[in-house]
Amino acid sequence: MKAIIKLEDVWKIYELGDVKVEALRGLNLEVYQGEFLTVFGKSGSGKSTSLNMIGALDIPTKGRIFLDGKNISKLDESDLAQLRGKKIGFVFQTFNLIPSLTALENVMLPMMFQDINRDERINRARKLLEDVQLEHRINHKPNELSGGERQRVAIARALANDPEVVLADEPTGNLDSKTGEEIMNLFKGLHKKFKKTIIMVTHDLGLTKYSERTYILKDGKVIKTVKGAITKEMIT
Ligand SMILES: Nc1ncnc2c1ncn2[C@@H]1O[C@H](COP(=O)(O)OP(=O)(O)OP(=O)(O)O)[C@@H](O)[C@H]1O
Ligand SMILES: [Mg+2]
Repeated sequence: MKAIIKLEDVWKIYELGDVKVEALRGLNLEVYQGEFLTVFGKSGSGKSTSLNMIGALDIPTKGRIFLDGKNISKLDESDLAQLRGKKIGFVFQTFNLIPSLTALENVMLPMMFQDINRDERINRARKLLEDVQLEHRINHKPNELSGGERQRVAIARALANDPEVVLADEPTGNLDSKTGEEIMNLFKGLHKKFKKTIIMVTHDLGLTKYSERTYILKDGKVIKTVKGAITKEMIT
């Protein structure tokens, strides 16, 4: 299987005055093209930090990150931004939609920065909102949508530029358990349909059953790789 993402001995050290925080301490991992992967760990284990590195939102203090065979660990901000726009779709715990824009406009937005004309942007956004079963809500603004619906819009937006990788940081963290399950099933369905690589970060053991493989993180390092759902016994 082809590794689309590879992290080699990645360190991230935040410096806050005299205090150094080692958020990642020699992280190694590989993500295969088309897989649905979970990164699981307790609060503070470095999950969001690692996702930010994978998603080119930040660069490591030390170590190498390869996306599609290209070393991205030393790119400058404008190259990173370009890469993000084309290759990565993000889904966040807090949805991060633009409040003044409708669902349709939120999904159209990332396409503005690519070379896609307005008619095509509208068509693609409509189609994606259908894929997340929101065709009846396209003219609603975020505050006129439920939490689950907002996350569906965010997922449609993440897919707007047909990215190679979708990254989701605690995508169900602000949802009740039933809505969270619906969102996870949506991810699973979209994974099957679009064959995208999906990386989800969570501290919720119950969500690991949706993905094919899980990396367990502790203190900024991978301590275990598990296929399928993980159980309590595996982490104690
Ligand atoms: N910008 C920052 N500056 C300083 N320290 C940071 C920064 N971001 C994260 N950290 C620290 O790095 C460590 C890892 O943080 P990270 O956000 O990656 O954890 P996490 O696994 O995502 O946790 P959670 O489940 O609570 O979201 C934590 O100890 C955190 O306090
Ligand atoms: Mg986090």
